[in-house]
Amino acid sequence: MTTPRRILVTGGAGYIGSHTVRLLLERGHEVTVVDNLSKGYRHNVPPERLCELNLADTDALARLLDRQRAEAVIHFAAFISVGESMREPERYFANNVGGSLSLLTAMVRAGVKHLVFSSTAAVYGNPQDNPILETFPIQAVNPYGESKVMVETLLRWFDEIHHLSSVCLRYFNAAGADPEGRLGEEHVPETHLIPLLLQAVTTGTPIAVFGDDYETPDGTCIRDYVHVDDLAQAHILALEYLLGGGASERFNVGTGTGHTVMETIRVVEAVTGRKVPYTVGPRREGDAPSLVAASGKLRDKLGWKPQYAELRTIVEHAWNFARKRPGTSPDQAGPAGSDKPFNFSI
Ligand code: UFG
Repeated sequence: MTTPRRILVTGGAGYIGSHTVRLLLERGHEVTVVDNLSKGYRHNVPPERLCELNLADTDALARLLDRQRAEAVIHFAAFISVGESMREPERYFANNVGGSLSLLTAMVRAGVKHLVFSSTAAVYGNPQDNPILETFPIQAVNPYGESKVMVETLLRWFDEIHHLSSVCLRYFNAAGADPEGRLGEEHVPETHLIPLLLQAVTTGTPIAVFGDDYETPDGTCIRDYVHVDDLAQAHILALEYLLGGGASERFNVGTGTGHTVMETIRVVEAVTGRKVPYTVGPRREGDAPSLVAASGKLRDKLGWKPQYAELRTIVEHAWNFARKRPGTSPDQAGPAGSDKPFNFSI
């Protein structure tokens, strides 16, 4: 049994945040979720845990951290769409950087000294080599990735000056769902490959494969898909590391194995038993041909070991969730509801 800790989680009603909150609660930690529900869902968080608040409200955050006597923060809340960030960079910098600065300011005021931060492989831009080490050059190629680079920079200075230690987890492609189907991916609009492939098999509407002329074995892009529960586990390990006195660090979170888009289509077909309708379209602007993590540092230093490293398992769990979700299955009519009841218990 781990020692119960008082943890504040921002963005805990979202996809990766909610899986992490569930794991924290299962471990017996005392969790408060801060979420303004602009992207997250009320049904992802036990109602008594949820505090609806904007990150920009520094005073309210500082009061909350004080009242909870928080020992650490896990910070997920952010906008995540690369394409949108290319159209509206100001919103990405205001929300992702401004929100983080407000949170860090509140933490300093409340004397909270540890933070686990949701960073991204997008900080590496289009790297020349794979697998990608944490020491590779930081060269974001879109405002989304740059907003995460900027927060990593803020964290360096907050450590230097305020002794606030942090772990930046640079996620590769988060995918899958809670193995028991209680939580899963519900982005609106959805832009991620695996949920879109599952939507294509259920609706019959073809998905566009973004380019098949890359220098990869079948010409389609390679990505490192990491199960959302394994990502959640990385947050718990990072938290324990910081609370145990560990110094600020940054880690890639990926399995170290890449899959092309075409391979992913074949896995979806094997899992669902249905053909994926697809067309091959032009390349998507800004897509790197291949993004695969070197994940040795996280394994060696924090003892991380992905439980669901097989793409087939990731797709099975995503399919299990998608089938139950209103509006995505041909058997269930109606839009995905944000008003469905809270759906897991500890
Ligand atoms: N893809 C298609 N068709 C689609 C959607 C995606 O072919 O309709 C392809 C993409 O071109 C890419 C792969 O599927 O090759 C995965 O695309 P996703 O949009 O699911 O994910 P990305 O790799 O673009 O981006 C993800 C996260 C970002 C993060 C990035 C870091 O969404 O937030 O990983 O690696 F920055």
